[in-house]
Amino acid sequence: LSDRIGRFVESMAIGPGDRVLEIGCGHGVAASLVCELLGRGGRYVAVDRSAKMIAAARKRNEAQVRAGLAQFIQSDLETMDLGDARFDKVFAMRVRLFFTDPERARSLAVRWLAPRGQLFVEYDEPSP
Ligand SMILES: C[S@@+](CC[C@H](N)C(=O)[O-])C[C@H]1O[C@@H](n2cnc3c(N)ncnc32)[C@H](O)[C@@H]1O
Repeated sequence: LSDRIGRFVESMAIGPGDRVLEIGCGHGVAASLVCELLGRGGRYVAVDRSAKMIAAARKRNEAQVRAGLAQFIQSDLETMDLGDARFDKVFAMRVRLFFTDPERARSLAVRWLAPRGQLFVEYDEPSP
């Protein structure tokens, strides 16, 4: 398990009732850590444009999906439609659009924030 992901999740100070959206969840490592911090009323939704990654993340977090806590959706930040769902915390780690066009990525992401919601972003190059 990566310290990078653990530190990032810790920095968001997630509370039990938070509604959390992750963009580009990859294998769903952060998902597991986030779900551990959520209680009744909390919710975690992930989107990733890769069907393969969504399948892997869903499998890794099968118990949380069955418990109704977590949901994994194949879509991309640019076109995703989550209806009227809004989130207290939205985050993205190593999702390239936040590096190549940060303003656009930010404006696409903040649409899903609830009032007083927070956006957390990290972009660093994975080591070779
Ligand atoms: C480098 S991986 C990072 C995975 C994980 N967040 C991490 O930090 O280990 C980037 C992931 O974001 C997804 N992704 C990239 N651009 C995306 C976009 N515009 N919308 C949704 N998912 C995206 C990719 O499919 C991939 O699973």
